[in-house]
Amino acid sequence: MTPKKPPRAGRPSAADRRRAERLRDEIRRHDHLYYVLDRPEIDDAAYDRLFRELVELERAYPGLATPDSPTRRVGGEVLPSFPEVRHVAPLLSLDSVTDPAAVGRFDERLRKDVRGPVAYTLEPKFDGLSLELVYERGRLARASTRGDGVRGEGVTANVRTIRSVPLRLRTGRRKVPSRLAVRGEAIMHARDFERLNARLAREDRPLFANPRNAAAGSVRQLDSRVTASRPLRVACYDILAITGGPRLKTGREALAALADWSVPVAAEAARATSVDEILAYHRDLEARRDRLGYEIDGIVIKLDDLAARRRLGVTARHPRWALAFKFAPRAEATVIERIVVQVGRTGALTPVAELRPVSIGGVTVSRATLHNREEIARKDLRVGDTVHVVRAGDVIPDVVARVPTRGRRARPFRMPSRCPECGTPVVREGPLDRCPNGLACPAQLKGAIAHFGSRDALDIRGLGQETVEALVASGFVRSVADLFALRAADLVTLDRFADVSARNLVAAIDRARRPELWRFVYALGVPQVGTQTARDLAAHFGSLERLMAAGEDALREVSGIGPAVATAVAGFFRRKAVRRIIDQCLDRGVEPQRAAAPQTGLFAGKTVVFTGGLESMTRAEAEARVRAGGGRTSGSVSRNTDFVVAGSDAGSKLDTARRLGVKVIDEKTFRRM
Ligand code: IVH
Repeated sequence: MTPKKPPRAGRPSAADRRRAERLRDEIRRHDHLYYVLDRPEIDDAAYDRLFRELVELERAYPGLATPDSPTRRVGGEVLPSFPEVRHVAPLLSLDSVTDPAAVGRFDERLRKDVRGPVAYTLEPKFDGLSLELVYERGRLARASTRGDGVRGEGVTANVRTIRSVPLRLRTGRRKVPSRLAVRGEAIMHARDFERLNARLAREDRPLFANPRNAAAGSVRQLDSRVTASRPLRVACYDILAITGGPRLKTGREALAALADWSVPVAAEAARATSVDEILAYHRDLEARRDRLGYEIDGIVIKLDDLAARRRLGVTARHPRWALAFKFAPRAEATVIERIVVQVGRTGALTPVAELRPVSIGGVTVSRATLHNREEIARKDLRVGDTVHVVRAGDVIPDVVARVPTRGRRARPFRMPSRCPECGTPVVREGPLDRCPNGLACPAQLKGAIAHFGSRDALDIRGLGQETVEALVASGFVRSVADLFALRAADLVTLDRFADVSARNLVAAIDRARRPELWRFVYALGVPQVGTQTARDLAAHFGSLERLMAAGEDALREVSGIGPAVATAVAGFFRRKAVRRIIDQCLDRGVEPQRAAAPQTGLFAGKTVVFTGGLESMTRAEAEARVRAGGGRTSGSVSRNTDFVVAGSDAGSKLDTARRLGVKVIDEKTFRRM
């Protein structure tokens, strides 16, 4: 199609209408070729010309614009919160195994139940955020996250911005159903993820740990313009419900139908009729995992016959006809080029391996933590060694083991005897080395300030790593209290700040002047005090003055606080330097707000421990529910635990609970509470 001149205002002619319709079809086709089939036919400039022409045309004649026009993918709506959406059909989760023998048992069971020949659809297991998309009369009507499987968050405006999601089903190849509910996964390709993180780093904003978090975080944005700026994609794998469409008999046919309607599905789907074929597919996909360009964490095996699926039905939460067969966490070999030592907020010295960059699952890894002196000794790691590095889920990459060599090796690594940041002699505490210089050590000061402004603490926007560096280097900030004395006029003298960014930071700090008490306590960085303990302390004492005045005995009366924490807290608030900083904060207008502690919730006064994976909510959400009900959560089971919520693959905590006779409930019971 060749671009034409933008039209003049007035009523659109019949030719304008046809032109707009053709442009929309063309752009849809190119979006599909580019984002779904990965087979573009025109270059970016040609695409941009088509797009701009359509934008101009729709701008000149607003009546020409349709709700499903590709120009409507820019976002714009800002929501106060996501509306709750009930799914057309429940979004179940999968039973999952890592052992090939379990695949054999699954196959055996299905053969018994199906009685007849058995065929499977095999698909990659996408590692992203599960979504439901609902099309009504061929138009994307609704999109929602999985939520608890029955109800999710309505993210329609956001999903509309994802280029691989058709706003309208393609017609012509197969009858378009009057209603279609599809299940898919929002994902981010590895290359897009790296580019996004590079951009966030330039903007001094927090980075995402992995593509899955980036995808999930980008879909769950209240401002759809933010989602529109994120390189998301969707991969679909299941028809949840269909009315008024073709009769589909098999899973493979369902995938083919989706593809005909231009809904993105995995190109790697395959068919199998035996366990051997399943294992071969698993092996093959695992070998090709890094070249797929997106993250998968296993394969999904599904009975192909849709009628048989319906007959088999579901257990409490899994369909009986499908199984996730996961990959082992992946390792790659690379070389330790250097070992550097970082000083954290608490003064702990952490050895970090700088690695020859290696791609693990499409994400380039160039550093890995070596934890501490003893870990290095135990694994006998030295500069120049070839090592296996794993990246499993969210965690920072870890060096698991050294690849033995017969060649000459470097000398064993030794932790420095002085703090690399301030030169103070290091003290040893068990396996750890610590710089005892506190906030006089610039690394600890920077860590303290970054922690003070972090999300769970005072949540000060614009106080990223590089800004903190600049503030400390300039001497404007020598303690967290100095943040409250910053003036925009000072900031603009630093290279980093322009007028606007200086004023924004000062405004963000100003907004942090009335924090909830627990946030302020957590922000101070009291040793051994995480968010939960900070909440306990705030709820118990109610004010900063009373907390600061509490002795060890008074602290030990707080439920959930043991002797070690009591000693640490009392010691912290006794320190002159700490008192001075707190006084300065208060002088500069900080007013921690006492939060009313619910005394009557369902969980009032109860201590709850979670173990294993939850299906219908994240651990953080579950913990938030307990707190909202007046309870507290703990990481370990003791006689003081009121009950343990056991998810899938619950481990040693469950054993401990049984041994101590602590009540154990499952996720369903917890949800009902
Ligand atoms: S089928 C009833 N197929 O993995 C069938 N799930 O618990 C339910 N996933 O929450 C899912 N790729 O978000 C299916 N090809 C695929 C998948 C897939 C990723 C996700 C899904 C689900 C989780 C397993």
